[in-house]
Amino acid sequence: MCGIFGYIGNKKNAGEMILSGLKSLEYRGYDSWGVAIKKDDSQIYIEKHTGKIGDASLPAMDSSIGIGHTRWATHGGVTDANAHPHISCDKKVIVVHNGIVENYEELKKQLIKIGHTFTSETDSEVLAHQIEEFLKEEKDLHVAISKLRSQIAGMNAVIVFFPDKETFYIFKNGSPIVLGEKQNEYFVASDASAIIPYTKHVYFVEDGEMVSLNRNGISLFDSEGKNKDIDYITLSYNAEAVSRGKYPHFMLKEIYEQPTVIQNIASSQLETVKETAKRIINAYGTYLVGCGTASYACLAGTYLFSKIAKRHINFSIGSEFSYLLNFLKDTSLVIALSQSGETIDTLASVQKAKAKKAQLIALTNVLGSTLYRMADYSMLLNAGPEKAVASTKAYTAKITFLYLIAHEINRTLHEGVQNISRAVREIEGLLERKSHIQHLANRIKNKNNIFILGRGVSYAAALESALKIKEVSYMHAEGFAAGELKHGVIALIEEGTPVILFNPEDETYEDTLSAAHEVKARGAYVIGVSSRKNDVYDTFIEVKNCQDATIIPNVVIAQLMGYYLALAKGYDPDKPRNLAKSVTVK
Ligand code: M6R
Repeated sequence: MCGIFGYIGNKKNAGEMILSGLKSLEYRGYDSWGVAIKKDDSQIYIEKHTGKIGDASLPAMDSSIGIGHTRWATHGGVTDANAHPHISCDKKVIVVHNGIVENYEELKKQLIKIGHTFTSETDSEVLAHQIEEFLKEEKDLHVAISKLRSQIAGMNAVIVFFPDKETFYIFKNGSPIVLGEKQNEYFVASDASAIIPYTKHVYFVEDGEMVSLNRNGISLFDSEGKNKDIDYITLSYNAEAVSRGKYPHFMLKEIYEQPTVIQNIASSQLETVKETAKRIINAYGTYLVGCGTASYACLAGTYLFSKIAKRHINFSIGSEFSYLLNFLKDTSLVIALSQSGETIDTLASVQKAKAKKAQLIALTNVLGSTLYRMADYSMLLNAGPEKAVASTKAYTAKITFLYLIAHEINRTLHEGVQNISRAVREIEGLLERKSHIQHLANRIKNKNNIFILGRGVSYAAALESALKIKEVSYMHAEGFAAGELKHGVIALIEEGTPVILFNPEDETYEDTLSAAHEVKARGAYVIGVSSRKNDVYDTFIEVKNCQDATIIPNVVIAQLMGYYLALAKGYDPDKPRNLAKSVTVK
């Protein structure tokens, strides 16, 4: 979940670059941050703080090598001491780490017994002390790092910085790490978006590989320790894609990018759509798997495939799929949805599916991510970097793919594409009318509960909408199947409770309208989202009928609602409390 960044090169402003890299990686964790920089006068500059980096700056210094870290706390509270980098007793080994050293307690006990002093409660600190210990017997850094790797359990991405030797060792298992190269300058980061301001020439380090990097150059070793050529690739997006530009927040920027992202999929991803449709047709059962917002896209997919493609497609949330996959065969197909391609709950379960020889398709936004590389066939969302913690454009991009695939299976792709274009126009219209949603957000911001109702695919939309509102505004919001309400939840409706009702003109229309009457009769303030106005709605948000693609603009309303509720309550929508963008721990 954490962000790591490192630089070795010929520029004198390593500190600035590291800080700026950390700022762009802060979405991965913002409990605390820290840097370790070797200055040109050979002094090591260390700074560690709790809280967000914000506008932090470092004192002026000449330096061309260093590392940094932004933390999402797992082992040990949010304190300066627990912030990374962590340093060995002899100060010769400095470490930043993303992941968990699962067996750290045992290692730590032994290290303390033989005289090491720990200054933090983290699992990560054992890495620095353990390497120091190995180097007492074995001077070769490579051998010491290899020994360390054979001793630690868990998913990790690590930069080990040996300041005396001006050398980095980099390795990973599970968690992501990317190298960037530009004429004698090297960058290391958890995510390519932190490197793109400097170079597009990157290499995604594979699990088991190890990199040694110093002023003489770079060497890559495979999992057996053999030297390997580095096949750099060129990223297709540019630095603007990772900046906020004219927008006050990434969340708003990403909401606004949706019409372009969605239209691009419908115009230029149709070959991918067709290939996936073919694989679904040939499979003996297909399973959609994802977590959080991706899971709600999967749920929507089950409705879309049932209705449009007349196919039963199974669905599981990533963290539960491991317990459901006993029946998988080598002819089964698993489609894993993940914006980051690094969500451990998804990766761990699809790994088990792969062990059962099921085919794996990835639908991810990140080229070179673990999921992307693990899959037999990968579809890229091509939504551009998503930096706000709350997923918006990646969700609607996923729905667009699933919707088009369902249409391709039904041999109605052309109709699907037309409906997507309608959905795009509706989003554009909503963005023009966003002040209405902002006004509504101000009106309901002090309510205790918000309920969101829908049937069929709109039920899936209701769940996603509630998550969006919860995670950025911290308000209690719940999505329900509109028909389920009267089986219990209606007890919670009281005078003025806001109820957002998704009521597209489909087979659910009349029944959903009944739910509106039921909650209205109990005092609810009903926000109707539909193409047809009705007196039962206290306020009405018009979304024209785009057939089943109406789910896309409907969810955009909730994205905007979440965004404006967060602003109304004084919260930063880009960095909601307790959350991190990429959830790489179980
Ligand atoms: O990167 P992924 O799509 O695999 O992430 C899955 C969830 O962690 C993610 O969707 C999370 O629920 C977001 N915060 C939702 O806005």
